[in-house]
Amino acid sequence: MAILVTGGAGYIGSHTCVELLNAGYEVVVLDNLSNSSEKSLERVKQITGKETKFYKGDILDRDILKKILETEEIESCIHFAGLKAVGESVEKPWEYYNNNIAGTLTLVDEMRRHGCKNIIFSSSATVYGDPAIIPITEECPKGTCTNPYGWSKSMLEQILSDMQKADPEWNVILLRYFNPIGAHKSGLIGENPNGIPNNLMPYITQVAVGKLKELGVFGNDYDTPDGTGVRDYIHVVDLANGHVKALDKLKENVGLGIYNLGTGTGYSVLDIVKNFEAATGVAIPYVIKPRRSGDIATCYSDATKAKNELGWTAQYGIKEMCADAWNWQKNNPNGYEE
Ligand code: NAD
Ligand code: UFG
Repeated sequence: MAILVTGGAGYIGSHTCVELLNAGYEVVVLDNLSNSSEKSLERVKQITGKETKFYKGDILDRDILKKILETEEIESCIHFAGLKAVGESVEKPWEYYNNNIAGTLTLVDEMRRHGCKNIIFSSSATVYGDPAIIPITEECPKGTCTNPYGWSKSMLEQILSDMQKADPEWNVILLRYFNPIGAHKSGLIGENPNGIPNNLMPYITQVAVGKLKELGVFGNDYDTPDGTGVRDYIHVVDLANGHVKALDKLKENVGLGIYNLGTGTGYSVLDIVKNFEAATGVAIPYVIKPRRSGDIATCYSDATKAKNELGWTAQYGIKEMCADAWNWQKNNPNGYEE
């Protein structure tokens, strides 16, 4: 039996493939490579000594889904495939809703037609909107999203929950990620954004490697200890391991499970700059800029439920997140391009 990993060539997907292979799973990847490179899967093989089976294709394409579900013995699907750039989603809402929502509807329809009703879905802390409770527990009500990307996650949570309710044969786990950063210790796989990064850590590492001049800090007048935004950064390898634990939970016929994957600790933008400098010895020049539209002041998790029910807690601290992000970037200044 194998695990279908959609979006498995991407940042979180490739790290999860490593942990799945290390845990003894067979892995089948479906990815259209719209935001990734097949080289990540070669690197996964280099790290683990094991191969993933790769299908290049789209979750919107029923034919390839049928082919995979008829050829491979898929027991469960970990569904990472999706578009994720917040700003781009505001410019291209149709493309985001089509890819993320129509894509997922197609995927789960083919899965159920082939009798495979176990899915782990990549959701996001963005579904909490401006959170009503800090630290955020899973009981915190979902909030108003500020962009189509966020809405696509929120709507897909609803769709998958409703499907599970109507057909209890489904096992659905919604994993709400906080802010994944860092890279595998080997420095062979990591985050590989196209163009100028939108997110904090890849921006910092590109300043460190000399590709960008300085970091813009988006606002220092928030109601936080130093005025800059506070987030729950989590090492991507910890996040990947959370998926292995969630697969164990699916096997208990969980029905519907919803879990935050975070560390429970919030760091400000300036904390991250200082920790990066301390971990790497590389100075990060920065300037204070206006707030970025749609940003909230503070977002960090209460990760107790994942600890109690999945037996999962984050192992890595902020120093390792910074050091490992830098190790990847300095060894691969242009990502997977030579
Ligand atoms: P990523 O872009 O590196 O990976 C997504 C992968 O999906 C890419 O390899 C891309 O080529 C593929 N893909 C996109 N649309 C596809 C389609 N229609 N058919 C087949 N493949 C397709 O992103 P990531 O950071 O690894 O994120 C993985 C998942 O986790 C996404 O669903 C994302 O929304 C979610 N998530 C990410 C973060 C984060 O900060 N990185 C936070 C919360 C949730
Ligand atoms: N920031 C800067 N300068 C930058 C980039 C970011 O100051 O160049 C700040 C932001 O204002 C924020 C913090 O750094 O305070 C983190 O910003 P990111 O863009 O790295 O992350 P977000 O918390 O805004 O969003 C991320 C993902 C979303 C996901 C969300 C919750 O991009 O997709 O985490 O999981 F929904």
